[in-house]
Amino acid sequence: MCGIVGYIGTQVATEILLAGLEKLEYRGYDSAGIATVWEGDVNCVRAKGKLHNLRTKLEHIEIPAQIGIGHTRWATHGKPEEHNAHPHLDTAMRIAVVQNGIIENYRELREELKQKGHQFRSETDTEVIPHLIAEFLKNLPSPPLPTSPSFFLEAVRQAVKHLEGAFAIAVIAADYPDELIVVRQQAPLVIGFGQGEFFCASDTPAIVAYTRAVLPLENGEIARLTPLGVEIYNFAGDRLKKQPRLLNLHPMMVEKQGFKHFMLKEIYEQPGVVRASLEAYFNNDGNPSPINLSLPKEFYADIDQIQIVACGTSWHAALVGKYLIEQLAGISTQVHYASEYRYAPSPLLPNTLTIGVTQSGETADTLAALAMEKERRQGKEAKYQARLLGITNRPESSLGHLVPHIISTLAGIEIGVAATKTFVAQLMAFYALALDLAARRQTINPDKLADIIHGLRQIPKEIEATLESQEKLTEHLAHEFAETQDFIFLGRGINFPIALEGALKLKEISYIHAEGYPAGEMKHGPIALLDAKVPVVAIAVPGSVYEKVISNAQEAKARDSRLIGVTTVNDGEAAEIFNDLLPVATVDELLSPILTVIPLQLLAYHIAARRGLDVDQPRNLAKSVTVE
Ligand code: G6P
Repeated sequence: MCGIVGYIGTQVATEILLAGLEKLEYRGYDSAGIATVWEGDVNCVRAKGKLHNLRTKLEHIEIPAQIGIGHTRWATHGKPEEHNAHPHLDTAMRIAVVQNGIIENYRELREELKQKGHQFRSETDTEVIPHLIAEFLKNLPSPPLPTSPSFFLEAVRQAVKHLEGAFAIAVIAADYPDELIVVRQQAPLVIGFGQGEFFCASDTPAIVAYTRAVLPLENGEIARLTPLGVEIYNFAGDRLKKQPRLLNLHPMMVEKQGFKHFMLKEIYEQPGVVRASLEAYFNNDGNPSPINLSLPKEFYADIDQIQIVACGTSWHAALVGKYLIEQLAGISTQVHYASEYRYAPSPLLPNTLTIGVTQSGETADTLAALAMEKERRQGKEAKYQARLLGITNRPESSLGHLVPHIISTLAGIEIGVAATKTFVAQLMAFYALALDLAARRQTINPDKLADIIHGLRQIPKEIEATLESQEKLTEHLAHEFAETQDFIFLGRGINFPIALEGALKLKEISYIHAEGYPAGEMKHGPIALLDAKVPVVAIAVPGSVYEKVISNAQEAKARDSRLIGVTTVNDGEAAEIFNDLLPVATVDELLSPILTVIPLQLLAYHIAARRGLDVDQPRNLAKSVTVE
């Protein structure tokens, strides 16, 4: 979490840093700050809240510095107050540091440093870093070590060797106005190469407006950026030879294009996402499978079971994926919260494919679960070796470095913190994977396979029709539910994860308490919550569990709950039971999640918008969660 950016060159740093931070606000927006070095001093300006507060503050301050670092924060240690905002400085205010990650041993370091006379001004873990660097700078032998080109680099290198945790940092110092030092240890950091100017950032969108030549640092690397170039070292101090590569990326299209919020625009982009996925995954001639995921032949050999690790909305997509893989390809599949799995993995089984699903490719828990899986299988006999696949919207992310195989989802950049189009893109990846596995293992007959693919090809039009018919309906319902305090979402079978996703969307952006439940489980607890004040949204579409969901909805109605049904068009039975209908087209039950999620996204969106909330940047959340 948190976004960091840095600049050294010939232009005024402030504007470049602010523009970079704007592109990184998806990583957190509790506070923001920048520090520059100018006329022998560190100038640090910070503001609580969103970036525009910092921008307003800076309007009255002119600093023509050509070196600086910036930060947008998602609070971990210490409240989101100005004194906890980055950059953090040492006691003498000569060194400034921004950090993304967590310094796990900060308490011990802080105590030691306090005893040596360092004065702390925040409750953050990060603040130990500038103090530690100051301590090393003070104690380095003079003249500088022959092996190190700079005192400053050497002090940072010594300091980071004492830090435990996952972090990326950028450091500047008043006494070293031509050096920007950056470090990567388990948190993403890229360096950008311009003409006589260099950049660093947590993510490429912050720098693509200036250069497309980038070099992602690896874990355990430290770089020294000067106006003359970039030097890279490992933590042992050895110089490394590395070349930047050209990013195949253009400055991001981040306009709302007439929509009130990015989230609404992204909901409306979903037909296009499905079309792009169909084009990319389903263009094979059918031999041995009509699906093309660009995975090598050996990938498919001997998969006895699958386990999937993910967080948040990606975890919901994984649950749909499990259903598809088990029902279509007959492979036993487990889905785990990555944050749980990494500390309590399943027993080691042979021929196990582990899939990590993460739209950002940077979620710390998902990466750690995959890395742990890789490590615990190392040195074992062949059938126990780790087989890892990533499903991500950012193939160039840390996930891309960690796993040998990737299915790229084709959502394009998603700005709204609440995932919508990336979820639908993940579902498309799972349809392709499950059908591919089924076709190759011949667990699906060719007619059924052709039917499903034909059905998928109709989905973009069906989503368009759903969007058209539901926009007004959901807006109207939002008006009635704007003050509601609790919601229950029910689904069964392949639509149970959609009930979870509907509830999560509502919680995330409207701050209304909502629970998603498998409809059959409602009577074992949540039914006690029901009364006229608690509406129930039930997904009741034709298929194996339709009648069961209808019965469960009746049980809720008997407790006076208002019933909202995500049903199919012209379903007379449902029309008699539900108070409100959000109908979608009738499709094969296996394909229904990709339609039933649409009204739930719209409902959450309109309720949040009606409540006047910040839909795209809801409180306390961040789009990319790079801390445990
Ligand atoms: C955060 C976001 C969620 C997202 C989750 C997993 O919590 O707010 O929208 O689903 O992270 O993110 P990932 O990038 O791994 O899919």
